[in-house]
Amino acid sequence: MIYLARATIRDIAVKAGVSITTVSLVLNGKELRIASATKKKIIRIANELNYRPNQLAVGLITKKTNTIGLIVPDISNTFFGELAKGAEKEASSCAYNIILCNTNDNPDKDVEYLNILLDRGVDAVIMVPSANSADSMAKKCLTLMEQCQKPLVLVDRIKMGEKHTSISVDHEQGGYIATKYLIENGHTRIGCITGPLGMLNSRLRFLGYKKALKDSDIRFQAKYVEEGNYHVEDGERLAEGLFENKVTAIFAFNDLMAYGVYKAAAKLGCRMPEDISVVGFDDLFYSSIMEVPLTTIHQPSYEIGEAAVRRIAELVKDENTKKEAIIFKPKLIVRNSVQNINR
Ligand code: RIB
Repeated sequence: MIYLARATIRDIAVKAGVSITTVSLVLNGKELRIASATKKKIIRIANELNYRPNQLAVGLITKKTNTIGLIVPDISNTFFGELAKGAEKEASSCAYNIILCNTNDNPDKDVEYLNILLDRGVDAVIMVPSANSADSMAKKCLTLMEQCQKPLVLVDRIKMGEKHTSISVDHEQGGYIATKYLIENGHTRIGCITGPLGMLNSRLRFLGYKKALKDSDIRFQAKYVEEGNYHVEDGERLAEGLFENKVTAIFAFNDLMAYGVYKAAAKLGCRMPEDISVVGFDDLFYSSIMEVPLTTIHQPSYEIGEAAVRRIAELVKDENTKKEAIIFKPKLIVRNSVQNINR
């Protein structure tokens, strides 16, 4: 196997018969008083040696590597895939690279990857905390970034007050319109499979669920509530208990858990939506092509990714950039998974 050692400025200087300083000035476009023939020779040799600046070395001088770390909890969930695509698209339009880290919803990985990214000299980090993380973990990550004087933007799951920039959809409004839609279709025994209630986004969606019940004078019943962890298996396992409590509809706090409800219904021979109605949250691509397309709450995950990079690039450029919570509007996407039982 041939290992091609990475060409350095020194290699170019030796081959061109000039000093390292002369090569550095030419390659950084500061070659004011260098003869044209020398410049051309240096550039020719750099191309022949396939020279690429060592970004970490450059970063040591400029203190910037034009690299942003993006930490997400579950890359197999296309919500995060779309978010990463939006982030990457915005990053490439403002000359940044993205290093993507997947924590598999393991909160220890949140901090581990943050340290790895800082060791690699990223200029900033965008983070969606792990499902089993909590505000204390987010605070730990924010403190670490503050100590390194680098910006951290929290996306989607946790908001640490107005002192830090966070970007998400209006989770409470999303929970409200999902539940309201089921109520408008005649459902009063509405099951709810939440995300981890240690997460702000889940607590806000739960608030929206309870507010919609209250606004329609429907009594909240704890027996209709199960706490999940945003995975398909949770939806399947928890739906069975709700079926036993004779719910006519289930609001699942994300599409993956809604898919689990479909699996539980199929296992019990329940027809959808005739026997059980379901509303999800996220609006993943698959939700529109299922045999019974899922009614859900759309989150603009791609746009959230774009906004996170746009804002963090501003924070890198000027640390006094306004820190705020950027909130996107959720949207109800009506498909075929809810039966109107008013009739
Ligand atoms: O599907 C994953 C869930 O976790 C989404 O609802 C998103 O908001 C993230 O927090």
